[in-house]
Amino acid sequence: MHTATAQASPNIAFIKYWGNLDPHLRIPLNGSISMNLEGLHTRTTVSFDPGLEQDELILNGQPAPAEAIRRVSDILDLVRAMAGVSHPARVESENNFPTGVGIASSAAAFAALAAAASSAAGLSLDEAALSRLARRGSGSACRSVPGGFVEWLPGKDDRSSYAVSIAPPDYWNLVDCIVVVEETHKPVGSSTGHGLAETSPLQACRVADAPRRLESCKKAILARDFEAFAEITELDSNLMHAVMMTSTPALFYWTPISLEIMLSAARWRAGGLPVCYTLDAGPNVHLITTRSYLETLKAKVQSVPGVRRILTAGPGGPVKAVAPHGKIFR
Ligand code: DP6
Repeated sequence: MHTATAQASPNIAFIKYWGNLDPHLRIPLNGSISMNLEGLHTRTTVSFDPGLEQDELILNGQPAPAEAIRRVSDILDLVRAMAGVSHPARVESENNFPTGVGIASSAAAFAALAAAASSAAGLSLDEAALSRLARRGSGSACRSVPGGFVEWLPGKDDRSSYAVSIAPPDYWNLVDCIVVVEETHKPVGSSTGHGLAETSPLQACRVADAPRRLESCKKAILARDFEAFAEITELDSNLMHAVMMTSTPALFYWTPISLEIMLSAARWRAGGLPVCYTLDAGPNVHLITTRSYLETLKAKVQSVPGVRRILTAGPGGPVKAVAPHGKIFR
């Protein structure tokens, strides 16, 4: 039996991935930029075992639903084909952050799965190959493979679509202050949402302008220019949500409380607090600030009615191999 364990962080996108050129391979229509979230992680152990009849998946101590097993088996099949292994695998995965609160757990999950499964199968994949493999499970997972601030090079095919680090975690002391406004699962998952993007007449415009936004976001990060970063990050989030709201059927992920926090962020920024918002496919608001303003921001957010809880995370590192009992060895 060959076993390996890996740990990965989720990431928050500043320039978003929404819509695929190839949904099967998860080749995105545009490049994206994100930051890994330190301190939040998924830890996954994969054991290839000839004694098993089929792949098994335990998520946070519970047997996973059939659909989740299928998605994991697809990745295991790719690994088995690459390594010439035929045994089924047992996969055990745990998050140290609450699931179903709108923190994209699939990114951390598939980054950790790609690393653990390939290592358990005896492969030693480099970062780009791991990123490509993670992408096949969930597009945004390719960005959880490299560390710090990350760009997903969209590419045109499997080989050319993977993520690279543009700056290490300690490059800029940004913090994501995740404002949880709802603790239920999202009604329409991102995989379905990506498929609806092309039904919006706004999607073509969003995609056409994406390279410009990506370059200005990258430039702002590299220059640690918060004002420029805030402007482009909010614009990109608004554009994605405009596409969502104008898809058929229309997808409204915001709630009135999300909007209240977004408008407050704009007010606080005008008052001199460096903060901006970005939202994924859910109602929770990611408020981005710098470390020295975090406590001031949290105090303001806590006073907004309807806020359920706040999680915070600075820039996180890459996917890591860890010992099964949790000790990091690389
Ligand atoms: C709104 O990577 O979750 O968070 O490939 O279908 O798993 P699948 O989609 P996923 O999409 C993420 C969408 C987003 C924006 C982003 O993270 O770039």
